[in-house]
Amino acid sequence: MIIEVNNICCIGAGYVGGPTMAVIADKCPNIKINVVDLNEERINAWNSNNFDNLPIYEPGLDKLVSRCRGLNLFFSNEIEKHISNADMVFISVNTPTKQKGIGAGKASDLKWVEACARQVAKFAKGYTIVVEKSTLPVKTAEVIKTILDAAELVSENKNNKFDVLSNPEFLSEGNAIKDLEKPDRVLIGGDNIEAINALTQIYRNWVPENKILHTNIWSSELAKLTANAFLAQRISSINSIGALCETTGADVREVARAIGTDSRIGSKFLDSGPGFGGSCFKKDILNLVYLSNHFGLPEVANFWESIVNLNKWHQHRISELIIKKLFGTVSGKKICILGFAFKANTNDTRESAAINICKDLIEEGAVLFIHDPKVDTNQIENDLNKKENNQLQINQKIDYMDFEGEWCSLKNIQSDSIDADAVIVLTEWEEYSLINWEEVSKNLRKPGWIFDARSITPAKVIKKLDVNFWRIGDGSDS
Ligand code: NAD
Ligand code: UGA
Repeated sequence: MIIEVNNICCIGAGYVGGPTMAVIADKCPNIKINVVDLNEERINAWNSNNFDNLPIYEPGLDKLVSRCRGLNLFFSNEIEKHISNADMVFISVNTPTKQKGIGAGKASDLKWVEACARQVAKFAKGYTIVVEKSTLPVKTAEVIKTILDAAELVSENKNNKFDVLSNPEFLSEGNAIKDLEKPDRVLIGGDNIEAINALTQIYRNWVPENKILHTNIWSSELAKLTANAFLAQRISSINSIGALCETTGADVREVARAIGTDSRIGSKFLDSGPGFGGSCFKKDILNLVYLSNHFGLPEVANFWESIVNLNKWHQHRISELIIKKLFGTVSGKKICILGFAFKANTNDTRESAAINICKDLIEEGAVLFIHDPKVDTNQIENDLNKKENNQLQINQKIDYMDFEGEWCSLKNIQSDSIDADAVIVLTEWEEYSLINWEEVSKNLRKPGWIFDARSITPAKVIKKLDVNFWRIGDGSDS
């Protein structure tokens, strides 16, 4: 039997639900897609007439949404209605690390996923394919299926039938549209071949057949956690070597190039930086740690946990190094921070290395001027748990000693670097590589410092200027 999908409902209008459904809508004009969310503000932003106000910044997303919204792509809070009309429901809600109870600090909190399963069990009509799009611990499909099966037994739902598929998402923020339009692979796990075919047919509208992988459902769930763990592992590996480079006279970029040309290693994901951030790497590895312990494999758990521990150590290593280079104290010193998002081309700050580094510096009394092209002030205030102090922006000579541990937004790197002791690059936004560093270095209080944790500044140019320069993993001047 061929199952035709005409109506999709996606629960969760976040960084995954929004872009993923926008691409499916664009590639499959005959399928009507309703993206639903509990969060009214988020849905209003998705429906905003001004495409600059979409809740997520992602290159190319505004064009896609403007093309499809109102035609076959809709955003709403009417969860019940759209679940009941759907042939296929994607669960794309958040799965953060559990904050309390059993497994706190490691296991994924599945309360939002369970709530979705219950909503689907209650409102779905007829046959519905439920697709796990969120990243979930292996065996979660069993929980979803149990909830759905229980609903099938209720007499008024006797015509309701469900199949559950795992279809994890591999997009990376900032490249989401490209990743979705030209994926390395699409992974579909499940045991009902007709349901698998129905989802495969949707992707076949733009993804070549050889890129659509079918596995059993548990392999699919575990492959997603494993992919993130392997990627994060490469970053901790290269950052650990970067630290060694700084003390041995080696240069991590040269080491990365040398090892990356080995086709077994490959050149991608070897950029040393301020430590991995983002909503998923840490959470997914900790989930893997929890699962390994749960299944009686503590050695496996310890191996993966060390990747997260190295990352945490590395972020604090950078703050400590900055403080040490600024004569052991940053108290009352003006420091410009360039970049707050966890990577370029996104407004997402979840687990951004900038949060820990800025908190460390504020704790030590530094006065921070923080810039990011896409992250708004409220978000920075929430992340630092500290209100911006606008007094700092008053354009007159002020004594920064009076503002220890305060921060404000940096508007213009040229004028706002006057009298700063240091500039620290934390996110690899392209505009930071184009800064006139000669002008900035002249503005700094002497002896000034430029710290580049992303290796995007023109090192050769800066090394000739009257300024001290540190960049990640570069021991070549030591
Ligand atoms: P997000 O927090 O941006 O979005 C999740 C949305 O789900 C929120 O808007 C929330 O209000 C909504 N929600 C929660 N429970 C709901 C319910 N019962 N009914 C309706 N709406 C509900 O999260 P995200 O970044 O989009 O991540 C979603 C999942 O995808 C996670 O499991 C994550 O690990 C995974 N993932 C994320 C990325 C990424 O780049 N962010 C990439 C691949 C996979
Ligand atoms: C990551 C994965 O790349 C996606 O495949 C996955 O779908 C997603 O997690 C998820 O499950 O959420 P994302 O976190 O959006 O995507 O971004 P990445 O490009 O992977 O970067 C993660 C962090 O690692 C960033 O802080 C980035 O700056 C850092 N990074 C990345 C490095 O420090 N060096 C590198 O070489 C690459």
